[in-house]
Amino acid sequence: MRGRGHLAVVLGAALTLSTACGPTVVGEVDDESGDDPTVWLTIGDPVAPQVEDFLGPISDDGGSRVVDSANGASILLAHESELQPLAAWFHDTFHRCGGFATHGSLDEALADLTAQPGDTGQPDEPEGLFAGEPSAINRMLPVIDKTRILATIMGLSSFPTRYYTSSTGVDAANWLRDRWTALAAGRTDVTVALVPHAGWAQPSVMMTIRGQDLPDEYVVIGGHLDSINVTGGSTAPGADDDASGVATLTEVARVILADGVKLRRSVVFFAYAAEEVGLRGSNEIADQWQAEARNVRGVMQLDMTDYKGSAADIVLFTDYTSATMTNALETLAGTYLPTLVISRDACGYACSDHAPWFQDGFPTVLPFESQMDEYNPNIHSSGDTLAFLGNNTDHALKFAKLGLAWVVQQARVFAPAPGAVRIAQVAYDAPAVERDGEFVELYNTGSSAVDVSGWMLTSAGGSKTLPAGTAVPAGGWLTLARNRAGFVALYGQAPDVSRAVPALRNGADTLILRNTGGTAIDQVSWETTGWQITANAGQSIIRTSPAGADTNSVSDWSVVTADPH
Ligand code: BES
Ligand code: ZN
Repeated sequence: MRGRGHLAVVLGAALTLSTACGPTVVGEVDDESGDDPTVWLTIGDPVAPQVEDFLGPISDDGGSRVVDSANGASILLAHESELQPLAAWFHDTFHRCGGFATHGSLDEALADLTAQPGDTGQPDEPEGLFAGEPSAINRMLPVIDKTRILATIMGLSSFPTRYYTSSTGVDAANWLRDRWTALAAGRTDVTVALVPHAGWAQPSVMMTIRGQDLPDEYVVIGGHLDSINVTGGSTAPGADDDASGVATLTEVARVILADGVKLRRSVVFFAYAAEEVGLRGSNEIADQWQAEARNVRGVMQLDMTDYKGSAADIVLFTDYTSATMTNALETLAGTYLPTLVISRDACGYACSDHAPWFQDGFPTVLPFESQMDEYNPNIHSSGDTLAFLGNNTDHALKFAKLGLAWVVQQARVFAPAPGAVRIAQVAYDAPAVERDGEFVELYNTGSSAVDVSGWMLTSAGGSKTLPAGTAVPAGGWLTLARNRAGFVALYGQAPDVSRAVPALRNGADTLILRNTGGTAIDQVSWETTGWQITANAGQSIIRTSPAGADTNSVSDWSVVTADPH
């Protein structure tokens, strides 16, 4: 028997209370393996002695639980089965939930103890970015659908419990993984995966939308998958805590994927396992990302979004969060959601999954459903149901809108590089009849097609205008001939456009490409001063690297056998 004397007394005494994080029922922890693994808690020093007192000695010989202390906090040894009663005791004693973080190894606990919390700022944006966010955000906001949020809360809260060691907690992870996979159907830039955790059964769920041009920079939005009942009763529906947060970010993902908007940075959606027993899933993930030195632009946590307990619509929490990012989030709300009332409060402790990220130096924000003293009174009980939320997701809808605007703003909208069209091959000395064999090719270095309708090619022999509907494909060639039948006979293929090339001299000449405004886009000369290059009959001059640098000189060009693309 481990030293749990105090625990039994407290549990017995507290069973009459019914508070959000009230006393637990012995046997709630589903410890199927029969053993009771050791965990390491990090706890603030003012509270640590009381926790030690509550839990009693770690061993029969009265061994101390305190392993180490630094930076105003201590590491205490505990057993997995003690976590749930401890969470309940915390609430009863301090009139708040939690206040400790749980680690699966001493190394992790030590890393947390010595961590330097908070890059509290926001990285500067590189210059020259395309500012396509406002139109994208305004286009997507009306697409957010509160009935989809409702459906996800309903699905998640229908599991009897999502407790981190329960089999239905694992079922819920699989269910969510399948839903996210369905949202990502047909997208090669999206991955959905379970993130296993070594110490318990429930995995976290992760979806990544790969960024277009900054894929190694991450925008993270998360909520927690697990639920808990510390008040007695057999179910832990966790509709508000935190099916609401997971449903909210699921709707953000759905709308971004349905829109097809291309984002510069990667966006990662998380449903973390084992939050209710010490932020364990998020702690492992944040530590891993820190070890991998991942570049994280910002982390938003959505934990409880659907109970309107206060006059304010959205309350921005100011502890374990980045002040700069929180200010920016308030500005964002003012810009895109000006009717919402925004206020501020603090949890007072590491109350949710943003905290491990923050302690690992990542900038975080936490928009919450109410002021701290007015949150959903039914959490952590069998009463945290969708019915108690009025079967209504009007409140969560506001968080989905804010979350979407924030994700798009932080990930930024990708603008395809404007196409750069250039003259890339000129066959001016045809083997037989000049007008049959002469051709010009254009090349587009960009990642989107360029419309060249109405553009003009001019040589000493005259000018030709490209017909309507002519475009140079992204990263591709456009073949322009003088005479279609002659071209086909000579090269065995059709040109893209004929009657599009003026007569080209076999001696010195210059070919100029102009856009519809008359601006010269590119030009090339041959057999003349400064452009000493000569193609003989059946040859052409061609850019040695069509997609490479353009020095506007003869050194870009070589002579080859005429061969259209
Ligand atoms: N959603 C709660 C946190 C919360 C509750 C925030 C009320 C604001 C108001 C979260 O799921 C939770 O219960 N967290 C634990 C954290 C602990 C285990 C480290 C808590 O507060 O007890
Ligand atoms: Zn929660």
